[in-house]
Amino acid sequence: MVETAQEQTVPKHIAIIMDGNGRWAQEKGLPRTAGHKAGGENIRPVLEHAKARGVKYVTLFAFSAENWNRPKPEVKYLLDLFRKYLFGDIKELQKEKVRVSFIGSREKFSSDLVERMREIERETEQYDDFHVVLALSYGGRQDLIEAVKRIALDIREHKYLISAIDEEKINDSLSTHGIPYPDLVIRTSGEQRISNFLLWEMAYAELYFTPIYWPDFNEQDLDIAIEAFGRRNRRFGGLK
Ligand code: IPE
Ligand code: IPE
Ligand code: MG
Repeated sequence: MVETAQEQTVPKHIAIIMDGNGRWAQEKGLPRTAGHKAGGENIRPVLEHAKARGVKYVTLFAFSAENWNRPKPEVKYLLDLFRKYLFGDIKELQKEKVRVSFIGSREKFSSDLVERMREIERETEQYDDFHVVLALSYGGRQDLIEAVKRIALDIREHKYLISAIDEEKINDSLSTHGIPYPDLVIRTSGEQRISNFLLWEMAYAELYFTPIYWPDFNEQDLDIAIEAFGRRNRRFGGLK
């Protein structure tokens, strides 16, 4: 999808780097895992509010390709948490006709979890009102590497010429295919970096950084971010 400058007060697609779980817990004298638990519990109200505000897509950065390098017990806690959500709580979203899909590499997940992800995608693919994209084991560079491999294979199989490689071909080869580019990227916890999130896709996204830790980021904070987005002058390289 090619962006054009136009008045847009509510972003169609918000991508969130849900950061700060560990510090949230540590500042309360709790183990980092308590922050992940609280962070998980914060997802639902924020999603509900985004939907109520008319946002159509929310991409959540839940676990990065680099997060596998965390201490083993923390990785295990997070995997157990995903399992709990994907086999349980996600049914609530399905009841509300929310489309759910996953981006990132599925390589390191156990086969039952991978099968469950596919099942959730299949079961919800008919819903088009509100779409939640979960980034699990996701890295922007890794996703681009996979896309390049897919394109190279297509060329080798003479499906199209090198000269036919364009923005659309690259989009179609990424795990975000079919999802419009994010208009607004929010990162909580005060860090002001992208941490290998949607590198290609966020080329023209507005960036919003807040010091609030993810477990404390609430509906009102989302409104403030949306309001800030509405005040931005989205020029996309042109003049407006
Ligand atoms: C984000 O919170 C959640 C994941 C990366 C899984 P962190 O765990 O990064 O929390 P901080 O940044 O250490 O506070
Ligand atoms: C980014 O947060 C990944 C997620 C929120 C899932 P990190 O906490 O892993 O990023 P860095 O290490 O601070 O860059
Ligand atoms: Mg962090």
